[in-house]
Amino acid sequence: MTSYIRYRPDLEQPFPNEQELVRQVVEAMGKANRQVADKHRHGLRDAHAKSHGVLAGELRVQPNLPAHLAQGLFAEPAVYPVIVRFSSAPGDLRSDQVPVQRGIAIKVIGAPGPRAVDDGFTTQDFLLVNHPTLPFGNIAEYAKLQDLLEKQPRQSDQQLQLTGLAARVAAKALTRAGRPLPPAVETLAAANHHILGETFHSMAALRYGDHVAKISAAPRSADVKALTGRPVDRKAGESALRDLVVDFFAHNSADYDIRAQLCTDIDRMPVEDASVLWPEELSAHEVVAVLHLPAQNAYSDARRRYADDVLSFSPWHALEAHRPLGSIMRSRRTAYPASSDFRHRLNDVEPQEPSDIKELPA
Ligand code: HEM
Repeated sequence: MTSYIRYRPDLEQPFPNEQELVRQVVEAMGKANRQVADKHRHGLRDAHAKSHGVLAGELRVQPNLPAHLAQGLFAEPAVYPVIVRFSSAPGDLRSDQVPVQRGIAIKVIGAPGPRAVDDGFTTQDFLLVNHPTLPFGNIAEYAKLQDLLEKQPRQSDQQLQLTGLAARVAAKALTRAGRPLPPAVETLAAANHHILGETFHSMAALRYGDHVAKISAAPRSADVKALTGRPVDRKAGESALRDLVVDFFAHNSADYDIRAQLCTDIDRMPVEDASVLWPEELSAHEVVAVLHLPAQNAYSDARRRYADDVLSFSPWHALEAHRPLGSIMRSRRTAYPASSDFRHRLNDVEPQEPSDIKELPA
């Protein structure tokens, strides 16, 4: 019988100088963010600045989950309203032709239970990216990226596209030679595929009630499954992904499996190193809910303004049952409010955390 690691606070092992590392990262991100805001004369997110679709939907917790999966938000079968924002990773408005990582942020409204931090909210956010691991998997490694982060705003879309191309050539050569890909090559070599066919991952671990898990979202319905691996048309322009999302949801609905991969071996499935892929042979991704997104207008002006300027998503908008774990997650407790406060202040927009799906404009 599989034995699932039980959550205990001492599974987390902070670095002795962690606060200083976080301070450095947040400061570097803030600098980059000010350059970008100056370029656009508008405050944007420090990361995942560009949205491609903003949707209302439902999270349908599956009935009859076995005890190890019936935890936290997923303890009882229930249907929760959600707001979903699709995005690209850079903290700038890049052309959709630049093959960077893509994200989905899911805000579950009305999540019952004690909070991870005392924020008075009822939301549970899941922030997922279309890659299973974070190459720089702890905050000390991540801090080494600072230089790159500060330089990125000064690189043109063409430079980024060329870097991606060079990384893909290098990745092919290394794979042919049977050599592992260095983390930077792996990140930069992403191909440019239809965003709705992607599988998205939490990369880092979170508490899963009595246990510990990584969360992912994978295409479930045939219409989105058919989009997996479909290249983005090179002639489709700078907003190709928004156009694809809007076209799709004008006539179609989409279902994604929300899956939990529970930790069964703390050494081979570490909490403090998000660069380690948790082996599926040790623990499968098990479906715990279905994310249902009906047909709708996925990108009205009012929605874009609300999602980009008013809302904030954060892994720390969380139930205690889904407390984010590990140094990468802990650093995000400071990084997200810093980014969110900056853009709200600059744009003179009041932040709002929704308690009702009706707050999302049509
Ligand atoms: C496990 C790794 C990570 C994942 C999966 C992830 C994912 C995401 C996603 C999907 C968004 C977009 C949210 C939205 O649509 O509003 C986002 C935003 C952001 N991320 Fe991350 N991220 C990760 C790590 C980090 C780290 C280590 C930092 C910095 C220390 C960071 C800083 C930010 C910031 C500042 C924002 C914008 C927040 C705002 O202004 O509302 N992320 N991230």
